[in-house]
Amino acid sequence: MPQPESSSQEQAQPEADPQTQFQPRPTYTEVQDLHAHAGNEVTVAGWVETVRIHGKVAFIVLRDGTGLVQCVLVRKALGDEDWETGTGELPQESTVEITGEVKLDDRAPGGAELVVSGLRLLSKAEEFPIQPKEHGIEFLMDNRHLWLRSSMQRAGLKVRAEVMQAVHDFFYDRGFTRIDTPILTGSIGESAGTLFSTDYFGEKAYLAQTGQLYVETACPAFRKVYCFGPTFRAEKSKTRRHLTEFWMVEPEVAFADSDENMRLQETFVTYLVERALERCSEELKVLERDTSKLEQVRGPFPRMSYTEAVEYLQSQGNDIAWGRDLGAADETILASRSDLPTLIYNYPKEAKAFYMKENPDDPRTVLCNDMLAPEGYGEIIGGSQREDDLDRLVTRIREEGLPEEVYSWYLDLRRYGSFVHSGFGLGIERTVAWITGRPHVREMIPYPRLMNRLNP
Ligand code: 4AD
Ligand code: MG
Repeated sequence: MPQPESSSQEQAQPEADPQTQFQPRPTYTEVQDLHAHAGNEVTVAGWVETVRIHGKVAFIVLRDGTGLVQCVLVRKALGDEDWETGTGELPQESTVEITGEVKLDDRAPGGAELVVSGLRLLSKAEEFPIQPKEHGIEFLMDNRHLWLRSSMQRAGLKVRAEVMQAVHDFFYDRGFTRIDTPILTGSIGESAGTLFSTDYFGEKAYLAQTGQLYVETACPAFRKVYCFGPTFRAEKSKTRRHLTEFWMVEPEVAFADSDENMRLQETFVTYLVERALERCSEELKVLERDTSKLEQVRGPFPRMSYTEAVEYLQSQGNDIAWGRDLGAADETILASRSDLPTLIYNYPKEAKAFYMKENPDDPRTVLCNDMLAPEGYGEIIGGSQREDDLDRLVTRIREEGLPEEVYSWYLDLRRYGSFVHSGFGLGIERTVAWITGRPHVREMIPYPRLMNRLNP
């Protein structure tokens, strides 16, 4: 029987303890919320972007990580001490706490200003290495930890974060189960050519090139699954599309064939682009992205078989022979025929990984596809129907000279209830580079790992 005392006790409970809520400094108002405080006095804290002094009035632009706000200092109103703090030596990136009245102003960045009534220096910065002038890319990359604070980098990484959230939302809403696949592995996922290896208690371990083989095994458990994590490739290429550590999302669907796989890709990419356009319009403006072409992105996308692609390239004077993989220049030519991404399907077996299903209509080829982004951004997706025939898969593993023993668990998937299944991998950095219109994948990840860069 419920005790009357206990229910009245519950009612008497104080409100949730603010210490246990995620609110590190509830006393500081976030700049993004200033609109709600028009006419009131608030205290904000952040980093100084610029200070301009015009006689007895000064302007500090403050960045608090949620936005920028212009703070207006009037000498007479503020008093000498605070005026001195704000206009004396206040180097860029110093940390300050500013109290003032919120005044809405459409001309101000973020639509609001602070009329300062108090100012406190929390930490005076040393001279900031990144100045508002042209710096070389290596210098900026050496200072990546500081470069992150600049407006273009903030905008790019914000779009990345939105796209990554959209990835999860898309699959969650469609009933996919997220499967986390290992990063340290004993088997080669894609190809032997680009492996990072490390000693694992006397054994050799590889950093995962893909989560695919593992995520496939979760299909009989959950039917529709995806993994999403960092993947590693010892790419010795210094191009604007290659990282040695990049993030890839890899869905896998039981009873889906290659055709359905391509349809899922179209729906998925359309969704990602829409989400970025819808929720990152400010960031895309900062990045000066012309969004008119992105706004047209909606499936179905143009499709072309590999064989048709080769014929087209040959008709353009390219001497590509059937059987050769498409290079970056070929991809750009093929993708530039449309403002939408282009799907190229059924490549020759030799050009692709061992796990792809042989095409019953043309056994020289496999049931696979790449998705090429428009505007020269290259391959953003690689996917295929998987070889579900045990004998054929074993033959392919042998042909590729891969160590058969370590794939016994992968082969088990064909031994215990084999099934048609397909999936793909989408590279986050290449996709975000395309959406933001930035030329190089290195700016699309907080700390890029490149052939010549491991620091910071
Ligand atoms: O075409 P890939 O190699 O496919 C796979 O790894 C499959 N296992 C995926 C699957 O079917 N589950 O790589 C997929 C995508 C590429 O299309 C590209 O977007 C990205 O991953 N990618 C890279 N991104 C940045 N730097 C690199 N070095 C990349 N290599 C691949
Ligand atoms: Mg590929």
